[in-house]
Amino acid sequence: MELKKIWQERSALVEKALVQQLNEANPLDKTLCESMKYSLMAGGKRLRPVLLMAAADAVGAEGEQYLTTACALEMIHTYSLIHDDLPAMDDDDYRRGKLTNHKVYGAGMATLAGDALLTLAFEVMLRQQGVSADKLVQVVREISIAAGPDGMVGGQALDMESEDKQVSMDTMKKIHLGKTGALFRAALRSGAILGGADDKALAALTTYADNFGLAFQITDDILDVIGDEQVIGKPVGSDEKNHKSTYVTMTSLTEAQKLAQEAVDTAVGALAVFGAEADFLRELVAYLVKRNK
Ligand code: IPE
Ligand code: IPE
Ligand code: MG
Ligand code: MG
Ligand code: MG
Repeated sequence: MELKKIWQERSALVEKALVQQLNEANPLDKTLCESMKYSLMAGGKRLRPVLLMAAADAVGAEGEQYLTTACALEMIHTYSLIHDDLPAMDDDDYRRGKLTNHKVYGAGMATLAGDALLTLAFEVMLRQQGVSADKLVQVVREISIAAGPDGMVGGQALDMESEDKQVSMDTMKKIHLGKTGALFRAALRSGAILGGADDKALAALTTYADNFGLAFQITDDILDVIGDEQVIGKPVGSDEKNHKSTYVTMTSLTEAQKLAQEAVDTAVGALAVFGAEADFLRELVAYLVKRNK
């Protein structure tokens, strides 16, 4: 199985659908429209939409059917990045290899572009075809909870409040599972629900998701120290600049790498209930801790 080939094909589908979804909105303000498009179409790994589709595949459905919901999730993710980079948060100048949204459009418009992508995402979810109203409500609920105070936003708040502080390993894990894990969890659970997963498959994909999120954010923390700015497309040393506690500062580079690998092993272990239809998920999580961007 060619991991990168499938990933690229699915990302290309996402890119195309994102433009279409964006074109269906009619923003009152031209600059707002440009600013939303600027960050949304700046590239990125498109992991969350790809995972949503892969989870549906794993439970025996056709992932591409759920491209619309997958795009909505990428809009929420992109909004979270625009706000994360704001001067009042991480204050970073580069993202996805380009100037950050606020560097181009100003902090006010960047805030609004984030707000607009978040709210548009919920309208886009309701454009999903071929799904019963019951299932759609279930998925919208998953995504709302994951994006909000119980999930991503909650994790970002904890992360912000832990600047300049010593935090426990438990708190650190909670931050990672919130700010990063929650949207991965929503991606995998939504794909599974849409694809008709039974309870056992849903539980397995949830365990996979949480460990994927952990491994992913630990690796992001590592790349913030040893990554190459040109490759990662965002600044190296952002965490140090903001006096953040991370897995790297709390342990060491080697220990952080070990903990990331442990999370990968747990994630892959959780997929034992599936056959070859989950090979993409197995290979993806293993690849992501070895990534350079
Ligand atoms: C960056 O996410 C923010 C984190 C959760 C670490 P990604 O690394 O998935 O960012 P893009 O979408 O590829 O730019
Ligand atoms: C933020 O984590 C994750 C979210 C945007 C929710 P980071 O602050 O480490 O993400 P990067 O490194 O800027 O992408
Ligand atoms: Mg941050
Ligand atoms: Mg950041
Ligand atoms: Mg980071």
